[in-house]
Amino acid sequence: MDAMLKAAGTAGMVAEETLDPVDWADVQALSHRIVDDAVDYLRDVRERPVWQEMPAEVREFFAAPLPQSAQPLAQIYGEVVENVMAYPMGNIHPRFWSWYMGSSNFTGALGDFLAAIQGSNLGGGNHAAALMDSQVVDWCKQMMGFPPSASGTLVSGGSMANIIGLTVARNVKAGIDVREHGVAAIDKPLRFYGSDQLHSCHRKAMEALGLGNRALRRIPTDAGLRIDIDALRSAIADDRQAGFRPACVIGTAGTVNTGAIDDLQALARLAAQEDLWFHVDGCIGALIAIAPENSHRVAGIEHAHSIALDPHKWLHAPFEVGCVLIRDAAAHRSTFAVTPEYLESTPRGLASGQWLHDFGLQTSRGFRALKVWMALKQHGIEKFGRLIDQNIAQGHMLGTLIEAEPLLELVAPPNINIVCFRYRGDGLTGERQKALNTEIMLRLQEEGIAALSDTTVHGQHCLRVAINNHRTRRDDLDLLVRETVRLGQEILKSGAAR
Ligand SMILES: Cc1ncc(COP(=O)(O)O)c(C=O)c1O
Repeated sequence: MDAMLKAAGTAGMVAEETLDPVDWADVQALSHRIVDDAVDYLRDVRERPVWQEMPAEVREFFAAPLPQSAQPLAQIYGEVVENVMAYPMGNIHPRFWSWYMGSSNFTGALGDFLAAIQGSNLGGGNHAAALMDSQVVDWCKQMMGFPPSASGTLVSGGSMANIIGLTVARNVKAGIDVREHGVAAIDKPLRFYGSDQLHSCHRKAMEALGLGNRALRRIPTDAGLRIDIDALRSAIADDRQAGFRPACVIGTAGTVNTGAIDDLQALARLAAQEDLWFHVDGCIGALIAIAPENSHRVAGIEHAHSIALDPHKWLHAPFEVGCVLIRDAAAHRSTFAVTPEYLESTPRGLASGQWLHDFGLQTSRGFRALKVWMALKQHGIEKFGRLIDQNIAQGHMLGTLIEAEPLLELVAPPNINIVCFRYRGDGLTGERQKALNTEIMLRLQEEGIAALSDTTVHGQHCLRVAINNHRTRRDDLDLLVRETVRLGQEILKSGAAR
């Protein structure tokens, strides 16, 4: 109440409220403390467990009801430190290798903070953040070898980037105005193609696009888990014969299971011969294009009609930021642009800039570009390229360590930075071997040693290490092998995996 009276200034006047603090000096002091703590938090990440289970009282903390009244910010920060900062997912830790994450970076976090402080809405308009958003898209085009005339947009992540690319593909290849008439008016059902290793987001995309999961044909893969080009060619021919309209082929540059990279040059040629849209899901591997020792692995990506890439993976931007690039800017814009009367452009002023919401599904958009822009400026693209090479070398190094350890075996040879292996448990087969390896994975997590995930490759359950982490060092990999062996032996001895 005191604060309200102060804000009102004159006695008798109705006090207007604001979310701004009454005392900026207090907030400044607390903010300095928060930044100091944040620096310590990141500096000491290696000393903490990768992950730890939350005790019951922490779970209960999150069941507290909707707050009705005010509480001092310093106290709230204390609660965050105790209940949130102490129990992270762990993906910034040097020994986090589950699924496929980036490991973030401090400069990016500062970028996110400043973006929130400036608070600009990247739906578009004539302001600096909008120019920076377009600049980061331009930089992504340069990294991928796309022409300056191409377009693109920053989105929440790889899944959205793929959905945007596939939506443009559907609209361009439908043969009718899908925006006006809907998918039901398409004369021949569309067919999209990708390998049987495609990420699950493509299924969601097909469902959301109204084409249905069955319109996405999963083509078998070769021994290296790359799409079988001959099988793809015959599937397209069969579909044409059966009255379908082959529309789009999705090449994967780095599959989620093993990091396999489809033959993008062959796919580009086939797509051109068959008049298909060529989309590349490069969420894992597109950025290998900037890595001097490995860029040859993604040769052909520059021929795609659209590419999904993920700066929150191998550029280590804090979540969230994905990017989609579309070679034909006009097709991109005409897939999404709508100009309602309340969002018309003006010749000058705030509404004279480009409407960035014309390139995707969101209207309001966050200022994702700043965190990417600041880190790219600070380190330069060459360093990011070297870090990608470093992770790929580490993937191969881990493969070698596993091959040298008689109790472990590779389930697939490492392609890039993903290693699939298992504890042999001689004499164990099928379900018992899976139970043993699952138990090893859970104990590695619960003891805070390392975070791995698991999958099934060539029909065999395995542990999976995805080294997409600029903090991982060689000794972390040695430790992983040692601890996996120790746990495997312990579990077998105790009979816990039966
Ligand atoms: C090959 C591939 N595509 C798409 C995605 C989805 O990306 P996101 O999690 O950023 O939505 C992933 C995620 O790991 C992926 O590995």
